[in-house]
Amino acid sequence: MIEEGRVTVNGAVVRTPARWIDPRRDRVAVDRRLLRSGQRVYLALHKPAGYVTTRSDELHRPTVYDLLPQGHPWVFPVGRLDRDTTGLLLFTNDTRFGEAITGPGGGVPKTYQVGLDRPLSAADKRTMEQGMKVPGLGMLKQAEIEKTGEPGFWEITLHEGRNRQVRRMFETLGYTVEALHRVSIGPIHLGTLAPGKVRPLTSREIESIGRP
Ligand code: URA
Repeated sequence: MIEEGRVTVNGAVVRTPARWIDPRRDRVAVDRRLLRSGQRVYLALHKPAGYVTTRSDELHRPTVYDLLPQGHPWVFPVGRLDRDTTGLLLFTNDTRFGEAITGPGGGVPKTYQVGLDRPLSAADKRTMEQGMKVPGLGMLKQAEIEKTGEPGFWEITLHEGRNRQVRRMFETLGYTVEALHRVSIGPIHLGTLAPGKVRPLTSREIESIGRP
């Protein structure tokens, strides 16, 4: 639309997409219709198992968008959780907030509870804590691993978010992840939000993420 000359900023046609504007002050119009500056939206979902993190699924499986309230503005998921992973998933329309969380350097730490098929050996725990190599992912950053109160369950904190990272780390060491649940993203906690439910983030949570 910009290249076709349909977009104006403060009344003047703009033909280069690499043009910064201040959404609070500049008047942007498409085909002479003024755009209203978008409201920022920040949501936390307790994702249940069985939902895919995508807008529409070729296999017609339920998607995380089925759980969002009707009529909300367009939002995108901040990172993704596997279909069988449960827990905290954020949505926003603020790309800078999203980038601060996922970030090229790993963004903010994410913490998961992991249920394993067998006891985790001290040596394997150390391997993950020291930064391990995973086929296809290369060398990973050091992870933090702690016991939970429940036997067979561990809490793992990652400082990066590679594709299926938790499952691939444990698989590489010969374990099967039987349950995976994200409990926090940096200072944002799942807390008592019930499965399938959505809540807006508080302004304190939004500000705590900062800017990339
Ligand atoms: N790591 C995984 O393996 N799966 C997820 O869904 C999230 C992190």
